Amino acid sequence: MVYRLLGENGPRVSVIGYGGWALGEEGWPDVESLLALRSLEEAFDRGITLYDTAPFYGRGLSEERIGTVLSSVRKQIVIATKCGIQWDDSRIWLSLSRDDILREVEDSLRRLKTDYIDLYQVHWYDQKTPLLEVSKTLQELKRQGVIRHIGVCNFSVGLLAKAVKWMDVVSVQTEYNLVNRKAEEEILPFCQKASIGFLAYSPLAQGFLAGRAFDPQSYVKDVRKHHPLYKTGQWRQITGGKEEAFRFLLRAEGVTAFLVSMTKPSHVRENVEIVEAFFSS
Ligand SMILES: NC(=O)c1ccc[n+]([C@@H]2O[C@H](COP(=O)([O-])OP(=O)(O)OC[C@H]3O[C@@H](n4cnc5c(N)ncnc54)[C@H](OP(=O)(O)O)[C@@H]3O)[C@@H](O)[C@H]2O)c1
Repeated sequence: MVYRLLGENGPRVSVIGYGGWALGEEGWPDVESLLALRSLEEAFDRGITLYDTAPFYGRGLSEERIGTVLSSVRKQIVIATKCGIQWDDSRIWLSLSRDDILREVEDSLRRLKTDYIDLYQVHWYDQKTPLLEVSKTLQELKRQGVIRHIGVCNFSVGLLAKAVKWMDVVSVQTEYNLVNRKAEEEILPFCQKASIGFLAYSPLAQGFLAGRAFDPQSYVKDVRKHHPLYKTGQWRQITGGKEEAFRFLLRAEGVTAFLVSMTKPSHVRENVEIVEAFFSS
């Protein structure tokens, strides 16, 4: 496995990170609980040290599973989780108020069975809490040692430029893959210039780049129904496969690591093998 520093001051992470969205099961068909738990063990055994999750993934389930399976190796891994998405029985909304962040971080620590979070990321900006207030809350958590590093996801370059003035942002997380290269326009160059780490999400475009079959009728909550490749029908024409998708990201300048959901040990093995073959060729 190859490891890189996340930005100038962030932790050292494996170039392929374990994405914890599908681990939470909600929105993802074809996830078997036992295999999903084993995929976490397989990931650790194969040298993956970066585990990205969020409270919202399976409404706590993804974090709980990471906490359960990986607590014995806690110090050897980098846990990246997030704040900002709130939910109750009937709705989902964004909030980054101080009270919500402080409550969320406590809930995450409990579910993850840990007393610190390596990378705490704003999941989506809520467009209402002043960014300065969000920054103060996160900086305070960092000073207390509850979180070790701060990251942001899905930020525009304008928002990021403000954020770096007020908080110690070590990384940005954005969708970036062979079929969505928007990050190259602004955010990736900004990160490179400012020595901020870049985590590419949806490297397989939610599985479409790996040729995963998709039957929209079979599971009404399938997240892929919202994917542009599905909406335009283009998913049927995808060629190239996972090897090409991963090699593209491994070659891409400024990308520190990519995060891939994989709830089957066989997928972990295949993906790590592609990464290792890239660096040994
Ligand atoms: N910050 C954000 O707003 C945000 C948004 C989206 C995603 N993310 C992060 O990025 C991670 C990955 O993104 P994603 O889940 O959207 O999409 P993705 O990783 O591009 O695709 C996931 C899909 O690919 C399949 N897959 C993985 N390896 C495979 C292989 N070797 N062969 C065939 N299929 C394979 C998975 O199947 P199985 O599960 O069946 O193995 C899953 O269905 C997430 O888990 C999350 O951590 C963050």
